[in-house]
Amino acid sequence: MPPHIAHDPDHRLWVLSGPTSSYVLHLDDEDRLRGLHWGRRLTPEQAASLLERPLPRRQFEDPTDGALALDAAGGMRYGHAAVQVRFADGVRDLELNWTAESRTDDTLVLTFADRHYPLTVEAHFKVYADTGVLERHLVLRHTGTEAADGPVTVVRADSATWTVPRLNGYRLSQVHGQWGAETQLSRTELPYGETVLSSRRGTTSHHANPWVMLDDGTATEEHGRVHSCALAWSGSWQLTVQRLPTERVTVSAGFGHAPITWQLPPGAELRTPVSAAAYTEGGFGGASRAWHRYLLDHVLPHPGELRPVLYNSWEATEFDVSVEGQSALAERAAGLGVELFVMDDGWFGSRTHDAAGLGDWTPNAERFPDGLGPLIDRVHELGMRFGLWVEPEMVNPDSDLYRAHPDWVLHHPTRRRTEHRNQLVLNLARPDVAAWMYDRLDELLTKNDIDFLKWDFNRPFTEAGWPDAESDPEALWTEHVHNLYAVIDRLRTAHPHLRIESCSSGGARLDPGILARTDQVWTSDNTDALDRLDIQHGFSQLYPARVMGAWVTDSPNPYTGRSLPLDFRFHVAMAGVLAIGGDLARWSAAELARAAELVAAYKRVRPLVQHGRQYRLSSPGDGELSAVQYLAPDGTEAAVLVTRRARRFGHADPALPLRALAPDARYRDADTGALHHGAVLLSHGLPLRLAPQDNASALFHLVRED
Ligand code: GLA
Repeated sequence: MPPHIAHDPDHRLWVLSGPTSSYVLHLDDEDRLRGLHWGRRLTPEQAASLLERPLPRRQFEDPTDGALALDAAGGMRYGHAAVQVRFADGVRDLELNWTAESRTDDTLVLTFADRHYPLTVEAHFKVYADTGVLERHLVLRHTGTEAADGPVTVVRADSATWTVPRLNGYRLSQVHGQWGAETQLSRTELPYGETVLSSRRGTTSHHANPWVMLDDGTATEEHGRVHSCALAWSGSWQLTVQRLPTERVTVSAGFGHAPITWQLPPGAELRTPVSAAAYTEGGFGGASRAWHRYLLDHVLPHPGELRPVLYNSWEATEFDVSVEGQSALAERAAGLGVELFVMDDGWFGSRTHDAAGLGDWTPNAERFPDGLGPLIDRVHELGMRFGLWVEPEMVNPDSDLYRAHPDWVLHHPTRRRTEHRNQLVLNLARPDVAAWMYDRLDELLTKNDIDFLKWDFNRPFTEAGWPDAESDPEALWTEHVHNLYAVIDRLRTAHPHLRIESCSSGGARLDPGILARTDQVWTSDNTDALDRLDIQHGFSQLYPARVMGAWVTDSPNPYTGRSLPLDFRFHVAMAGVLAIGGDLARWSAAELARAAELVAAYKRVRPLVQHGRQYRLSSPGDGELSAVQYLAPDGTEAAVLVTRRARRFGHADPALPLRALAPDARYRDADTGALHHGAVLLSHGLPLRLAPQDNASALFHLVRED
């Protein structure tokens, strides 16, 4: 296997390759780094031949506008610049000289220095041999030593500019959303100009998610070329998708948002988060599978683990928690086969409603007179792990924490404070807040046998001031996230058995940055199985089922009022990390018995769902039928989850051809014993035989016979 990064010094080319794709960098005569190619795999010789095709020259144009992989503001380029600075004397143009290269088989660092000012820019690359996913980030360093050098203001430091090749048309795929309706997929023609997806909320947000996919408008679920990229960051972010009139398209991905800047004093550096990208040829499904593989194998902290079936008490009890009530739920949950019992909000301080107690992370003395120990012991006795809800970055003004440290919240002394859900955001950029948070959680985890935290974040930043900051108060936007990551990383090191769920009013903190240090994500507070189909469809575009928390809750659903059969609710939730979140005290004996069967069925296919390859056979937007197939990594088993909303009288269910099976193999239905030929399943599909009623559903488990 040739090295994943090949260098051709004569042509000043680097070819970064995965098994089927390459990204080619070229340094031109003026040391500008061009993105020469992003697509199918090329040899260095093939890549060099691209230099025989010079960029077209036009009046009033710098031909490199929209063609640079490291796009630093300056010269006659007017498009979105990934690196924008302001030097102490007001100069905003950068002129970078290439100064160094360091390279291994799979990493490359190209260093540039400004011709005049004390600033270096390092462009870091890492390519993954299995998927071809390419990671990039930048390090900007103020190399001055004297105060006289003045600070450098960094206006924009995008981790990467991804240069998309010329296509016959451009279509943009993205997800948008809101509370209760996260990750709604949309595909639209890319307009000319700049399309900016962003969060200015201090967190990833419900409203957009930091990834995009681009195709020429003809890609389908299983066919066609797709260029995709994402940003690993859980604070404010910006993805600028630019289509110039010259038909050059770039995606520039970075943290921060205008007009927030970074101040670099002499000697300081700014390290950006990672932006990763993938070029795939198997349609949107192929792109998703590359991302799933990359996140499963290279990003998640415990990739090989199976996530347990979880119970969460929130919808059952809300703030009304007690040892007796939780124990009763735990007993019923254990009877269903649940493996991890999570007590949600309402267990600490004076938190009997959402207006008090947030920040006081000690058990409520009336509700838990002997601490959490008795409940935790009971849960462990029942054979389950114990999890607890926390929201460490927040405070209710009516709390002991706030009374002791009113200066710890984000605020401007001259401005009113927006309270949302009766809470304020702690300024985690402050070292004392970060130290308090670590100590408090470490104590909680040391004194109690807690296996799992549901780590929530229920409101965005507003009035983000830091009046007594020693240096630039705007650093809080970035430092909040850095300190959040550092606290989680330290807790995980100190408590190696701890697993964490990222939650933010549902799915507002979902990104590859938080996934590097958590084990699963709470997908949405909306647990209505029908709405979930769309949410999960959007979620699955980038993120694997292994991190997608999905609860089965009561019917009618407490939020939407919609009634759906138990099987349907289960079959939808089985598409991710199955969990139960209903009020089990109100489930009938028949419902509990059926639920136990469905949990057992899930456990049989769980390795395929959580670690296998996912094929979206029919999407919720396609019609009444929604279906997802999961194939074991070794291809020996497949699971198919099917839901059908309604069937019109006189119409048969559609055929459902499966994917990626061995045509010559035979597959036995593990439940009915029926034997199917691979080739027949691939071309004619699975005979569905769903019940005729509305909201029918099924799980099929096929095992290859050899
Ligand atoms: C958020 C979460 C919910 C629940 C509540 C508790 O809304 O998304 O799942 O934990 O907070 O207050």
